[in-house]
Amino acid sequence: MAVRPILHYPDKRLRIPGKPVKDFGPEFQQLVDDMAETMYAAPGVGLAAPQIGVSLRLFIIDTATGEDEPSDLRVFANPEILSSEGEVYFDEGCLSFPGAREEVVRNERVRVRAQDRHGETFELEADGLLAIAVQHEHDHLEGELMIDKLGVLRRRLLHRAMLKRAAAEARAAKSPPKEAMG
Ligand code: NI
Repeated sequence: MAVRPILHYPDKRLRIPGKPVKDFGPEFQQLVDDMAETMYAAPGVGLAAPQIGVSLRLFIIDTATGEDEPSDLRVFANPEILSSEGEVYFDEGCLSFPGAREEVVRNERVRVRAQDRHGETFELEADGLLAIAVQHEHDHLEGELMIDKLGVLRRRLLHRAMLKRAAAEARAAKSPPKEAMG
């Protein structure tokens, strides 16, 4: 298993829609394991394949965030949101927007059909954090991001903050911190 680098906004690869998963073989199993390790290391509640530069219709979610809670990893390959209802406001974060938290409106409940890591089809009725995570991760598969859900002003502010962050990261990469020298 390996932690893969997570792409940060405004990386254009985040905008590439995922292609259907057709092969559930060893390479796919490795990908799912790597995604899980990457998500837990971050840490995050969910991770979509396009966030590590893999254009597939695949995301994983684990809403068991408490230290004493056993992990509850769910794999969604080729997911389809069958129905959705209700409305809820939630402060969302995204591993591709480090440090950002934005209030986004989502459906309160969703019914989703997907395939698990072995290609078995399942249906799931989700509410609470799981429903929000399903919608957030599903957006990633369409190349849609949290920032697209915001009003003009907040979108502009977040965009600028992310550009600033990317520039600072690029500068830091060019000149390593002093403690790393000698
Ligand atoms: Ni995200």
